[in-house]
Amino acid sequence: MSTYLSGIQPSGLPHLGNYFGAIEQHIRLPGQGGEHFYFIADYHALTTSRDAAELRANVRETAVTYLALGLDVERATLFRQSHVPEVCELTWLLASVTGMGVLERAVSYKEKVQKGIAASVGLFLYPGLMASDILAYDSHLVPVGADQVQHVEIARDMASAFNAVYGEVFVLPQAVMSKHTKVPGLDGEKMSKSYGNTIWVFETGKALKKLVGRITTDSRGPEEPKDPAGLLLFDFLRLFLTPAEFEEWAARVRAGGVDAPGYGHLKQRLIEGIEERFAPARKRREELLADPAEVDRILARGAERARERAVRTRDRALRACGLR
Ligand code: TYM
Repeated sequence: MSTYLSGIQPSGLPHLGNYFGAIEQHIRLPGQGGEHFYFIADYHALTTSRDAAELRANVRETAVTYLALGLDVERATLFRQSHVPEVCELTWLLASVTGMGVLERAVSYKEKVQKGIAASVGLFLYPGLMASDILAYDSHLVPVGADQVQHVEIARDMASAFNAVYGEVFVLPQAVMSKHTKVPGLDGEKMSKSYGNTIWVFETGKALKKLVGRITTDSRGPEEPKDPAGLLLFDFLRLFLTPAEFEEWAARVRAGGVDAPGYGHLKQRLIEGIEERFAPARKRREELLADPAEVDRILARGAERARERAVRTRDRALRACGLR
């Protein structure tokens, strides 16, 4: 039986990139069998967060998002990373056998520093903590977006380094990607909290209209025939429309002329698509926010299950390297 594991940082509100790249899979996969662990990476968020109240609110929002979107907590274990402190211990054991070069190659570290995030030791060691997250549960498969694939490879490298010295202690994991590996943001770059180009999954009304209005277009009029493949708006529409409806709009844009929709028209359809897709979950989110004790209970139960597993792996690793 395969074990799946993945995490999401509570460094802001979950956006469409998180949803289509990761969360959607995390919710769908447990229905197909296997063992599932999904967690809120609050230790990781400390590398960028400096506001305790905001972090606390984002942790709750992330948990509520998973539950509102339909994660089945009987089939999947939902928990907070910091409720399993053994992952920090494992990070040290793994770091002790990992060459600097393995982490120096991490692209996301270099990108973050380039963007002006302070180059703390924690930020550098970030993939090491992520490796521990993955290895602590003997995970086989890690459903993530494209930007995290290198980190899963680093987890394999760190596990192999440890196993080479101490024997077969860790399972070597593999990344699995959804078909939306790199959801674009409003400006066409990857949608990312740190680029300020995101749409929160539960955005609605005027705020949603304003955001969709920012999706980059050009000055060509509706009547001019265009290739939809070159239009950012169609990358968004693809996420929300059925293939048949998507093809209908694409054909009209390709043909141009008096019947062709303008960008405003397409943006209106996108707004409706987003509102419709998340309407039931939006309602459920309100209910969950009004019942924090229930969410806490679910997270506590998840932590208990997750911790039991992580303690076992930690003990195995401690024994192997001579600390037990
Ligand atoms: P994070 O919080 O940046 O993103 C959470 C998940 O969303 C995916 N994602 C995207 N997918 C497609 N298009 C996008 N524009 C987009 N933006 C984000 C990410 O690939 C990710 O799957 N380091 C991780 C959290 C983590 C983790 C782990 C993940 C900590 N430990 C162990 C897996 C296993 C992160 O920062 O994800």
